[in-house]
Amino acid sequence: ESLREHETVTKVKNIEMIELGRFRMEAWYFSPYPPELFPNADQKNAIPILYLCEFTLKFFRHKTELQRHYQRNPPRHPPGNEIYRDDKTMLSMFEVDGTQEKVYAQNLCWMAKLFLDHKTLYYDVDPFLFYVLCERDDRGYHIVGFYSKEKHSESGYNLACILTLPAYQRKGYGKFLIEFSYELSKLEQKVGSPEKPLSDLGQLSYGSYWSEILLNVLIESGKEHLSIYDLCSITSFKADDTIQTLQKLNLLKYYSGNYLIYITDEAREKHKKYQARKKNQKRVDPTKIHWTPYESGRKSDKWSIASKVRGNLDQDDEA
Ligand code: ACO
Repeated sequence: ESLREHETVTKVKNIEMIELGRFRMEAWYFSPYPPELFPNADQKNAIPILYLCEFTLKFFRHKTELQRHYQRNPPRHPPGNEIYRDDKTMLSMFEVDGTQEKVYAQNLCWMAKLFLDHKTLYYDVDPFLFYVLCERDDRGYHIVGFYSKEKHSESGYNLACILTLPAYQRKGYGKFLIEFSYELSKLEQKVGSPEKPLSDLGQLSYGSYWSEILLNVLIESGKEHLSIYDLCSITSFKADDTIQTLQKLNLLKYYSGNYLIYITDEAREKHKKYQARKKNQKRVDPTKIHWTPYESGRKSDKWSIASKVRGNLDQDDEA
């Protein structure tokens, strides 16, 4: 199985480029689109441009087919429920259930795989929810990125796979998606973490997000005493992500047989920089989330904040 996976992941690109809405984006990796798309079974010749409907993510080899599809008036938004809408930033988030919207979810996974290499992409979409971020205008809701999440994660993952489409990267959407995943964890009253391994870009984005949020809590809360337990309860970060980030920021000091969190001048400077940039960034407004957890009837589990964070700490680190 793992050999087969490796083969799939290392295969040569079979699609050169996609056209999605206003953009053409060069594919980064192979994606296992269905064989019907390659009638000659001659995968040596990659498809030069694959045309995607930006609302349904249906895909076509020829632009005329896509135009005919648009003439049939597909819905101008992703399927599922709009669980977030911000009229100032014109951003919306849709929650799509993999069981109810199999075709859309599958299309989303195939498209995502064009830009993800290290992950086994789940082709069984049933166990997942997909959170699709869109920019809204008078033509409809235009997908800019998404993340997926297991409906139930034994490992306490609150995000399985994240993607900002290349045309929208480095504009803050990655951090928006990450922030959204933690806002949902807060509503679930759980700690959460992204599925590992993270890609290099995933590590950069998470590293920056964790640092920004932890520095903000430590410096702005006005509290002199904050434990790792407190930090995890406030942020919904798992203890090991919190501790690792504090270590990277050089804030954990060993003193008289104990670890202390000690705010350095360097950390204050970093915090100031984050604050200065924040004003221009797209951030999640939690008051605009309208959502109930998928497993709202479920009893608390080991990742629930009250019961778990302490246990996680005892296991993971003495800090
Ligand atoms: N080079 C250097 N820094 C980068 C880069 C880059 N290419 N891309 C993002 N960053 C940094 C940004 O500077 C920012 O940090 P800062 O706020 O301290 O400046 C931080 O990462 C987040 O930037 P955003 O603009 O919010 O992120 P973006 O919208 O570009 O999305 C993402 C990040 C989702 C990882 C995107 O690069 C992507 O989709 N990559 C391809 C798929 C992928 O690798 N996904 C992660 C897999 S791991 C997993 O799924 C659990």
